[in-house]
Amino acid sequence: MADTVEQLDAAAPEVVEDSQAEEEPLDPEVAARRRAALAHVRKWGDPVLKERARPVERFDDALRTEIARMGALMHDALGIGLAATQVGVLHRLLVYRVQPDASVAALVNPRIEWRSGEQEIAEEGCLSLPEVSVDVERPVHIRVSGQDGDGETILIEASGLEARVIQHEIDHLDGVLILDRTTREQKKAAIKSLRAWQAAADGA
Ligand code: NI
Repeated sequence: MADTVEQLDAAAPEVVEDSQAEEEPLDPEVAARRRAALAHVRKWGDPVLKERARPVERFDDALRTEIARMGALMHDALGIGLAATQVGVLHRLLVYRVQPDASVAALVNPRIEWRSGEQEIAEEGCLSLPEVSVDVERPVHIRVSGQDGDGETILIEASGLEARVIQHEIDHLDGVLILDRTTREQKKAAIKSLRAWQAAADGA
């Protein structure tokens, strides 16, 4: 569930990472841009999605270029979050933007320092899992430390959707998908739908 930002209306993002998971048909130009962006996003079945990403040690122009590229992809894909793993780069790096008019936030080497005991179940989608959304229970509030693209320390206190997106993306960095966090029944139904999607994509 995650970000053409003018398309990301406030009502949509109850589905995390892929804001368009259950949306109305898009303007053809926006849809074409989204398809082009999604072609760069690794999908279910790609082994990289199960890998654990490595800490970023060099805060250089290459890293900042990578952050900018991920932000642009997330934007065009109409996502609200994207982890480097999803573009096949095993760096502990994620970008997100919960508010459509905000700038893209980047978090390098993120670490959850604290999570609330209070949990909430909400529907999540994922740019790597086409046409799937499942219920995921997560802590409502978190405190996260990390670095920005220049290596400066960041400390974020997040709640609600922002906390959910960050946790979803950190899961990606650990090789964990929402399929691993939902009920057995929903996982089973999602895998069936993903197999059908894959068969259709292979046939195309
Ligand atoms: Ni995802």
